[in-house]
Amino acid sequence: MITTYKAAPDIDVLTTAFPIPGLGHLAINAFVLHGEEPVLVDTGPGVERDNFFTALESVIDPRDLRWIWLTHTDGDHVGALGRLLAEYPDITVITTFLGVGIMSVSDPLPMDRVHFVNPGQRITLGSRTLHAFRPPTFDNPSTTGFFDTGSGTLFPSDCFGALLQEVPENAADLSDGELRDGQVFWTTVDSPWMHGVDRGVLARELDAVAGFEPSLILSSHLPAAPGSMIDRFVASLAAVPDAGPFVGPDQAALEQMLLQMAAGPN
Ligand SMILES: [Fe+2]
Ligand SMILES: [Fe+2]
Repeated sequence: MITTYKAAPDIDVLTTAFPIPGLGHLAINAFVLHGEEPVLVDTGPGVERDNFFTALESVIDPRDLRWIWLTHTDGDHVGALGRLLAEYPDITVITTFLGVGIMSVSDPLPMDRVHFVNPGQRITLGSRTLHAFRPPTFDNPSTTGFFDTGSGTLFPSDCFGALLQEVPENAADLSDGELRDGQVFWTTVDSPWMHGVDRGVLARELDAVAGFEPSLILSSHLPAAPGSMIDRFVASLAAVPDAGPFVGPDQAALEQMLLQMAAGPN
């Protein structure tokens, strides 16, 4: 199920709290940026494609969309992409050379409907100027977040996500412990390379993202967060190299889970 809420007067969040057995819930967010040239940021998970369309149509007439900013090509971000491109010919996809390359092996993007923006570059869409950047953590080489310079809103893609027991609409409603533990754990899952990262390099990357001084943070995998939480987010990520690495359930655990499922809820 996909629900919507407003993160700002001109930004709608399309969200689902995706259950991950034994681990909790992960928010999966897409965003509609209203304005002269409306932008959809990512297109939801494939398993929720139909629900995504219903939710999208409740906040905007999809014919008005001009851009899709594809933060990266993972399945939780490209669910409705193909159908949107097929049905709405005025949409152009903002991505990178790698984004096109990765999509080319499953659902190729039409080359006359893509627009490349690399980290470090800017693009102006109507009254919005969006500054692309590579977030400090990511799970896909095409990942490109952006900072909306006018509104001060940061879109860091998978970065700053959290695995949570319950997903509120505002990250400020999470306790310090829930937020920190959820962000650290999610990051060990999503960016396992963090355990081998150079601490000095990581500190510079975290300083750079905090340097945007955002007023609002819209991660793909966390409820909307006031920009004042950036210092707590950065502290969570700085703790990841010292956290235990994620190890998934093994075959014995899987067989135990299957037995429990076969036995039913009692
Ligand atoms: Fe991802
Ligand atoms: Fe993701």
